[in-house]
Amino acid sequence: MSVSGKKILIAVSGGIAAYKIHFLIRDFVKKDAEVQVIMTPDAEQFVTKLSLSTLSKNPVYSDFYGDNGTWNSHVEMALWADVMIIAPCTANTLAKMTHGMCDNLVIATYMSAKCPVFIAPAMDLDMYAHPSTRQNIEVAEDYGHFIIPAETGELASGLIGQGRMAEPETIVKAVENFFTSQTSAKSLEGKTVLITAGPTYEAIDPVRFIGNHSSGKMGFSLAEEASKRGAKVILISGPSSQTTDDKNIELHKVTSAREMLNKVFEFYDRVDIGIASAAVADYAPKEVAKEKIKKNDDSLTIELVKNPDILKTMGEKKTHQFLVGFALETQNEEENAKGKLEKKNLDMIVLNSLRDEGAGFKNDTNKIKIFTRTEKKEFNLKSKDEVAADILDFVEAQLLG
Ligand SMILES: Cc1cc2nc3c(=O)[nH]c(=O)nc-3n(C[C@H](O)[C@H](O)[C@H](O)COP(=O)(O)O)c2cc1C
Repeated sequence: MSVSGKKILIAVSGGIAAYKIHFLIRDFVKKDAEVQVIMTPDAEQFVTKLSLSTLSKNPVYSDFYGDNGTWNSHVEMALWADVMIIAPCTANTLAKMTHGMCDNLVIATYMSAKCPVFIAPAMDLDMYAHPSTRQNIEVAEDYGHFIIPAETGELASGLIGQGRMAEPETIVKAVENFFTSQTSAKSLEGKTVLITAGPTYEAIDPVRFIGNHSSGKMGFSLAEEASKRGAKVILISGPSSQTTDDKNIELHKVTSAREMLNKVFEFYDRVDIGIASAAVADYAPKEVAKEKIKKNDDSLTIELVKNPDILKTMGEKKTHQFLVGFALETQNEEENAKGKLEKKNLDMIVLNSLRDEGAGFKNDTNKIKIFTRTEKKEFNLKSKDEVAADILDFVEAQLLG
């Protein structure tokens, strides 16, 4: 499950590893999480509020007291958070957390938090191995907190041993895994999800065709994510080099738009969620030559006729299905995508623009915007697997109302 839209409260204490928090914040923000940073007064010796607030796009607090008689509400921040991460967690902060010594904003916020708490300790090897630290880690675990153990390697002191704060990507992964285990594990159990993927090839003669550059990656990522969430998945793919060995995915390979249409409607009645990510050719040659067309003349005219519009037909025949379309636009993107949502009777449309670097057909990454009739959400550039998780999170949120 992605951390998109999740509220992440990061508390920084005064260790040398505080410099890594910039990367941690950046990773979460890139994944569309909302990040609020607080810090201990000592942490201000190591990193600046300015850099942390610039990256997190929110003010950073280290003090209870604001200007002109105001105060920074630890209670509000604690209740706002979906998760709290203390990183780096010094020996001192850990000891205070486990003994209720509430003399700064970080500890007061921590003690008010009802959300899951992740602790990434960082200290020199002897401090990390000290019986008091070991005991405090055990107590924190008994409180139900998640400890992200320090790693072994060269420490700031020059010594080598266990004490380095876990890398930011390890911390992000731990939080993502938590959300996955909490909500999405079987969130689509009992649902049938039909996904179209890849290009279609429209034959000109026995050896030539009209096609496009769609790789099918987005559709296959969606199928695997839906399967992870317990759905029964029917994946109808045009010619693509993508494969899957997921037993939960029923893969049907087709070639042309007409074949894709027929295959979709073999299953459509029993589908709960339809996601049309295939790049279907709009036109096909009127006649398919029986033999290979010879290179006789200087020019060749092929008459094209309109293909059936699979998504529009799915929209027209919609009874109970939640229908998601894709739009790949090069101009007037939002307007065209919203128009398609209406015209084709969709519930949701995913827009990617060829103007965005890294987005679209052949890349492993994609940058999307999602529209429903009432909502719009913009996402950062991410791997197609992460985009698939974002899309299904959004679908699930719509289905829950
Ligand atoms: C250069 C320097 C680096 C330090 N690095 C760490 C560290 O990695 N881990 C730790 O537990 N304490 C470290 N300390 C000690 C803490 O800064 C000190 O215990 C402080 O009181 C922690 O306050 P806080 O937990 O409220 O942030 C370091 C101190 C200095 C001067």
